Amino acid sequence: MEERKRSLPELFESSNGRRVKTVEDWRSFRRPEIIELYREYVYGREPVGRPDSLRFHVVMERLVMQGTVVHKQIDIKFTGLGGEGLIRLQLYIPVTESRVPAFIYAAIKGQRVSEVEVEECSAYWPVKDIVSRGYAAVSYHVEDLDPDFYDEGYQNGVHGVFDSPDHSRSPDAWGAMSAWAWGSSRVMDYLETDSRIDSERVAIVGYSRSGKACLWAGALDERFALVVSNDSGCSGAAISRGKTGERLLNINRGNLHWFNDNYKKFNEREDELPIDQHLLLSLIAPRHLYVASASEDNWADPESEFLGLLLAQPVYTLYGFSALDTDQMPPMNSPVCSERVGYHLREGKHDITRYDWKCFMDFADRTL
Ligand code: GCU
Repeated sequence: MEERKRSLPELFESSNGRRVKTVEDWRSFRRPEIIELYREYVYGREPVGRPDSLRFHVVMERLVMQGTVVHKQIDIKFTGLGGEGLIRLQLYIPVTESRVPAFIYAAIKGQRVSEVEVEECSAYWPVKDIVSRGYAAVSYHVEDLDPDFYDEGYQNGVHGVFDSPDHSRSPDAWGAMSAWAWGSSRVMDYLETDSRIDSERVAIVGYSRSGKACLWAGALDERFALVVSNDSGCSGAAISRGKTGERLLNINRGNLHWFNDNYKKFNEREDELPIDQHLLLSLIAPRHLYVASASEDNWADPESEFLGLLLAQPVYTLYGFSALDTDQMPPMNSPVCSERVGYHLREGKHDITRYDWKCFMDFADRTL
């Protein structure tokens, strides 16, 4: 582990050799530099922020669960030179006098989040568990932002809406991950307008591919109070240098559309990247961060995910928050947490389960 650590880019040293000594240093030069490195070498540059054309349409609103929960569907619409885009948002909000905190889930291929009945309580999206604990359960599907396949040359989804009409692309043009992350910020734009939601206490949760995208969303958009990455693995929470299981070559060959073209230049050359994933996680500090792994998820590599979290912690301590009281991987099904950071290793395979969700909510109850 010590040798692995030594091979990594320094958290507190910028490319011109300047060292971070204070929170002000971190915020004024190192944090912005890391964001730019991720834009340049990994995710690409998003060409727009919040579009002026952004509109919210209430499609449906009804009471469910004997009147204890409001179920709403909101269409988030926006237009660009290439036409109109749409995010279909589902919200289940406990009815209370006060605003409630929320969990947003970024669903992926094979996961249905629209027209889910509260009682269904699927393992990956346990709406009933979430509302019963007093949180709003908010979901969107990442494929509303960009369908998860390669062969369309970035002509659909938000790329089709906002990119240049001739579809020319630079090596740092935004890929699918960046589009998915952009979408969660638009979801946050809506939540800020909903009088039932406490927008200061919103968590974003992603699993596997959307776990990677959520980390980027949380890095860029400081309105997310808690960022949760579940089994995000390669190019998510896991340190790339010395990683086992999936490597850059695998992820870039298997998913040509996820990252920008510059990232592909580092296949089998992880050591030459100016970043590694502790730097991505560090961008979430001092906000709350939770990383989850699964014991049989060798492709994601739990040890490297845990290491990513450990090595991001110096930014939390710079801010005066405690670090985890161990640097050893905790036993299975035994979550560990500090004031702002949490981790668990669930027993079992690559998945997101009710147990994972229970741990995320326990962490949010304790710290958010
Ligand atoms: C593939 C991919 C992983 C990804 C996973 C998923 O296994 O290699 O990087 O996390 O799909 O999203 O389910």
